[in-house]
Amino acid sequence: MSTLEYSELTLEHFQNPRNVGVAKDGNGYGKIGEPGCGDICEITLRIEDNIIKEIKFRVYGCAGAIATSSVVTEIARKKSIDFALRLTDDDVVDYLGGLPEGKKHCSLLAIKAMQHAIYDHLFNKRLEQEGNTATKTQFDQLAEETWQEIRRRAQGN
Ligand code: FES
Repeated sequence: MSTLEYSELTLEHFQNPRNVGVAKDGNGYGKIGEPGCGDICEITLRIEDNIIKEIKFRVYGCAGAIATSSVVTEIARKKSIDFALRLTDDDVVDYLGGLPEGKKHCSLLAIKAMQHAIYDHLFNKRLEQEGNTATKTQFDQLAEETWQEIRRRAQGN
């Protein structure tokens, strides 16, 4: 696939992106920037009982970033947190029938932003439950434990 060739499905998602905006009553927020090109993706979601009930995105970026963000929200919507954490950028590229070589990194933006939004949700839940983060060390430890949980669940453990 050459640099400027997008699949029909990619162009369709670019022209009619799904799930644009901010999730109502959201309880998870993630924002990721791509230093190479300066593009930014923001994801908000509402999780209830481990299920992503609503997921929305806003992107400042290229056609590939818009299309892949749209696809990530479509795939993850109404699915479990664990399912969403196991999604990879390759899944997104495959779903779209490929992306031009120079645009493959775009598919990482929404995946990473979604991981951060899930992290935000799980971290705040821990904070509510444990409520014992009086010091920075305790706060950092809670953050590290949450990332460990994210990595574990992403591997299906
Ligand atoms: S060129 Fe920056 S995300 Fe696509």
